[in-house]
Amino acid sequence: MELPPVGLGTMGIDDPDAVATALAVGYRHLDTARIYDNEAVVGEGLAAGLAGDAGAAAEDLDREDVTVATKLWIDDLAADAVAPAARESADRLGVDALDLLYVHRPRGDYDPETTLSALDRLVDDGLVRNVGVSNFEIADLDRAIDVLGRPPAAHQTELHPLCYTPELLDHAREHGYPVVAYSPLAGGRVREVDTVVEVAAAHGTTPEAVAIAWATAKDPVTAIPKASSEAHLRANLSAAELELTDSEVAAIDAVEREEELFPE
Ligand SMILES: NC(=O)c1ccc[n+]([C@@H]2O[C@H](COP(=O)([O-])OP(=O)(O)OC[C@H]3O[C@@H](n4cnc5c(N)ncnc54)[C@H](OP(=O)(O)O)[C@@H]3O)[C@@H](O)[C@H]2O)c1
Repeated sequence: MELPPVGLGTMGIDDPDAVATALAVGYRHLDTARIYDNEAVVGEGLAAGLAGDAGAAAEDLDREDVTVATKLWIDDLAADAVAPAARESADRLGVDALDLLYVHRPRGDYDPETTLSALDRLVDDGLVRNVGVSNFEIADLDRAIDVLGRPPAAHQTELHPLCYTPELLDHAREHGYPVVAYSPLAGGRVREVDTVVEVAAAHGTTPEAVAIAWATAKDPVTAIPKASSEAHLRANLSAAELELTDSEVAAIDAVEREEELFPE
């Protein structure tokens, strides 16, 4: 899949205006999940953005310009649960097809054979355009590639200065699929990381901008920071343009405190 360097994470967003504003300022990838309980909110914001309600920049926006991604929770992964759950997500989002549907975690009712085969049937039916996976380890990824007969369309995984697994990026490069970095701001905690703060000061910018620039400079990473205000939305979108030096990138790579926010 071709994904822009920065998309919008929507976990916790309960106001459609934030989504519509994101589209108006240039976001083209919206990430939600059934478990966030806000697919209808995201759908409402998408509809407003497509109608041009949120501002001039979104006026010429077409549905196909926006990648709408959601995720099946671990109790929606049995073979007979996948299709109805995907249909319900699409209905809540108000879309005919889901551009990207992830397995949220390889847990619960997840079974590589039956879950992924059921998802593949939805691609044949046209309800789903791309099948992605999230929170997979290398062995899970290899198994998924075996079953699908192709790489996942994307792997969404936690990636920020306090949580960085280069092996997952190596795997993605080797097999040719994008990595979607979730919680790229460590849920707002990147400003507690001294190295990130120092790099930000050197560039006269924020630790959040540095965290996004660090993640998106890595091939093949796209980041999905969550933001609510227009100021944060704009700042995060333009952060991918910030260029860090090799030594700054290496310093952040080497940050010692590894902290997974969403271990299970
Ligand atoms: N696949 C998974 O299992 C999984 C797990 C977790 C998250 N995700 C996805 O990843 C997305 C992002 O992760 P996240 O929501 O955990 O956190 P995050 O994006 O790392 O951080 C969001 C926090 O940072 C603040 N923020 C955003 N931009 C800022 C800026 N420019 N300056 C200062 N503060 C800023 C936000 O505040 P405001 O809202 O006030 O702007 C919010 O409190 C989620 O929304 C979700 O879509 C996926």
